[in-house]
Amino acid sequence: MTTLKQATGPAYTRIYSVGAARGENAVPNDDLIGPIDSSDEWIRQRTGIVTRVRANAETDAIDLSTAAAAEAIERSGVAPSDIDLVIVATISNPKQTPSVSAIVADRVGANPAAAYDINAACAGYAYAVAQADALIRAGAAKYAVVIGAEKLSDIVDPTDRSISFLLGDGAGAVVIGPSDTPGISGTVWGSDGSKADAVGMNHTLTEFRDGQAPWPTLRQEGPTVFRWAVWEMAKVAKQALEQAGVEASDLAAFIPHQANMRIVDEFAKQLKLPETTVIARDIETTGNTSAASIPLATHRLLEEHPELSGGLALQIGFGAGLVFGAQVVVLP
Ligand SMILES: CC(C)(COP(=O)(O)OP(=O)(O)OC[C@H]1O[C@@H](n2cnc3c(N)ncnc32)[C@H](O)[C@@H]1OP(=O)(O)O)[C@@H](O)C(=O)NCCC(=O)NCCS
Repeated sequence: MTTLKQATGPAYTRIYSVGAARGENAVPNDDLIGPIDSSDEWIRQRTGIVTRVRANAETDAIDLSTAAAAEAIERSGVAPSDIDLVIVATISNPKQTPSVSAIVADRVGANPAAAYDINAACAGYAYAVAQADALIRAGAAKYAVVIGAEKLSDIVDPTDRSISFLLGDGAGAVVIGPSDTPGISGTVWGSDGSKADAVGMNHTLTEFRDGQAPWPTLRQEGPTVFRWAVWEMAKVAKQALEQAGVEASDLAAFIPHQANMRIVDEFAKQLKLPETTVIARDIETTGNTSAASIPLATHRLLEEHPELSGGLALQIGFGAGLVFGAQVVVLP
């Protein structure tokens, strides 16, 4: 009997480049506080957000993804036609199907790349990086574009004070490909569906169709998610360092999901990050962009601190599911 030929890939992968696209409009706290009986001061103190980016009505997650991916590809030096895998992490494609990724692959010149979307909420980017790394090393693809993209403003209720004021719109993208040295560590990832009700959509599309509920929007039990993030996710971050075989003091950068500045600060404390580790604080002017938040924060960090290039960064995403994912990467 003939034996099957098994695909194999390179031993290691790395991130080649980052691209970003932010919503066109800066929306300050004062524009949102009326319907939620809040204040600029409360939002700044409790979340660290001063203003968030939101996209124009006609801009969608596909447009944001395309712009971010085009920049990442351009900077990578990889020809668009050599990209054979496009993964988009998103929870805000207004259509169940077709995927964002297939359209983006075509728009950036990567048609007929394998393309699919994943829904792992705010952990989506870390999940997608884990997949691209594994698929390339398995020989299933050579060059991947991984995108985190959200237009969350389509699924916010301006009168909801649990989460709406946190959210922004944008996309961040990276190109991942073969490497001579390790550039992406093993991923610590998982889920806890017993806490599915802690954050997510408040209604189903069929309830909306049947007139039983308004347009579905995001809700959360803020303090539940906050406590889980601070206690459980700090442990996951430490496990990711262990799995990568590095110490907190080896980190050039720490790029956690931009959920709340107080969570970022608490992580930094629990990880005992040294002064020299640069901490991503993109939430202050971008807001929480779910799957887009880590690559957007990475993009900003490299713009503001080009010297971080080649250094190690710990990234950790966590959110609705509940789900989480963390890994250490070499910054492009
Ligand atoms: C949402 C969040 C900012 C709320 O902050 P918090 O400090 O937990 O606030 P609480 O819900 O405990 O409420 C504290 C007080 O502020 C009030 N409050 C709640 N939301 C408010 C708002 N939007 N504006 C003004 N006041 C508000 C509450 O009524 C309460 O008042 P009281 O003390 O008089 O009872 C915070 O819980 C959070 O960031 N959670 C995690 C978010 C996250 O990581 N999500 C992940 C999925 S993306």
